[in-house]
Amino acid sequence: MSVDLAVIPVAGLGTRLLPATKSQPKEMLPVGRKPVVQYVVEELAANGIRRSLFVTGPGKHSIENHFDIDDVLIDFLRRSGREELLPDLLFERQNMQYAYVRQRRQLGLGHAVLCAEPFVGRQPFVVALGDSIIGRHAQSRIVQRMIEVFEESDASAVIAFEHVDPEHVHHYGIARPKGDCQADVFRLDDVVEKPEPEEAPSTLAVAARYVFRPVVFDALRRTVPGKGGEIQLTDAVRDLIRAGHTVLGVNLGAGERRYDIGNFSSYFSAFIEFALTDEREGARLRSTVRELLEQLEDSSSPEAS
Ligand code: G1P
Repeated sequence: MSVDLAVIPVAGLGTRLLPATKSQPKEMLPVGRKPVVQYVVEELAANGIRRSLFVTGPGKHSIENHFDIDDVLIDFLRRSGREELLPDLLFERQNMQYAYVRQRRQLGLGHAVLCAEPFVGRQPFVVALGDSIIGRHAQSRIVQRMIEVFEESDASAVIAFEHVDPEHVHHYGIARPKGDCQADVFRLDDVVEKPEPEEAPSTLAVAARYVFRPVVFDALRRTVPGKGGEIQLTDAVRDLIRAGHTVLGVNLGAGERRYDIGNFSSYFSAFIEFALTDEREGARLRSTVRELLEQLEDSSSPEAS
């Protein structure tokens, strides 16, 4: 059977998005008309994943509520003649099973993935970070490609990568590829969590999607706190490479970028792009934004002061 299980860590505190995330999970912030985590699950469903195991934490109940089937709301919409809104709830019925496990202490991403072990057991699985959307409106097939690469190889891990500007390497896990990293698929020699630009082995950043054999749990159990005092998934991958396991990187394809909803700069960019390309509102919004930009340019021009 092909890999059909994804672990979705959503336990992070979202401190880089305060105050927006004070009493709501960052994964529930809207990007255009949907919350981030809905894009993640829709992407996974389109890539053949049928079971989603969320690793949650304090204050994350709204994520569970979001994926419930809300018969009361559906009934209300029908009785009040608002049937046209029903398609917006179709995601509740997508071909996906949901399970939730708690990360009971905030010890880092690696620890969050380890919390899934009793439920994953000894089967391969995907990790999809719940605060990152891949591809505009989540139209990406990277996970499917990664699973194909995984199944055709002896790799213990397959990780998605994208190039970032050198000044952003300190936000991400950064690869040291073995040989040619321009190829779609390349082998990793090392991976470093959030290096300073001068220490970064490349500008290839881990792009929030992974496929693992369960041996990663053994590595995670051995992993001591690293960057930021947290148990890092990147350090467990590094451990696998050092122990002689094959770890492969897959580059995001053209038109398949990662939208990181972990800080305001990239969140704002993602929201604007998704709203401007929204099927129903995009055209109107584009003309409003054009006018607004002209006004802003006029008021900031030297003649205006
Ligand atoms: C995590 C990982 C990092 C990865 C990033 C985005 O960092 O630790 O290696 O590059 O996600 O995929 P975080 O954003 O949780 O700080």
